[in-house]
Amino acid sequence: QKNGQLKGRHVVISAGGTVEAIDPVRYISNRSSGKMGYALARAAVEQGADVTLISATSQLPDPVGVRTIHIQSAQELSEQMFTALPHADVIIMAAAVSDYRMAQTAQNKIKKQDSGELNLTLVENPDILAQLGSAKTGQYLVGFAAETQNLMTYAQNKLKKKNADMLIANDVSKDQVGFGYDTNQVTILTKDKEPEMLPLQSKITLAREIMKKISIAINGQVEK
Ligand code: C5P
Repeated sequence: QKNGQLKGRHVVISAGGTVEAIDPVRYISNRSSGKMGYALARAAVEQGADVTLISATSQLPDPVGVRTIHIQSAQELSEQMFTALPHADVIIMAAAVSDYRMAQTAQNKIKKQDSGELNLTLVENPDILAQLGSAKTGQYLVGFAAETQNLMTYAQNKLKKKNADMLIANDVSKDQVGFGYDTNQVTILTKDKEPEMLPLQSKITLAREIMKKISIAINGQVEK
């Protein structure tokens, strides 16, 4: 249906863990399943939005009614996010972006070294959320922060530093929370409101609640 709170809005969501090639057969990645980002895409469609999902995972079926673009590396993700930026009303960076990539991807499969040691030189990837934060022109920007300690301090700092409008923080050291699970427990931080801790719940229920909060924020409505 196209008559919810996000009708006529374009929501762009990144999801999954980026994949950085080491050589033609090996890569660096992380444990992100993409489930949270995909749940957000579904919830946004339910609320009537036009949704673009930029996905770094191939493990989940493309959500119905969503324009899904598959990418691998952080650099590809960055290109797609910046292509989408001018047409977006809401941008959600739910992807787990590799902080580093190979300085140079090997053209051929790397052979075993006689020395018994292999050194890979990595260079930092751009912080896409922070770059979107600098470049945005009125888009509502949402980031995630997975932490194992000092959740609130780190999350508050990220909200500010990356110039996001909302930051969704989860303590991934807790049971049933974050990477790979179907459930999540988060605290939502915004620039202008007190942090709000939500209960442990399924990712789709949580996604609906997050999308509702975003629609209230952009529509300027009073929360019921
Ligand atoms: O700094 P940290 O990686 O914890 O920040 C997490 C947030 O920043 C997530 O929203 C993630 O999608 C985004 N991010 C990014 N580019 C990076 C690293 C993280 O957009 N290179």
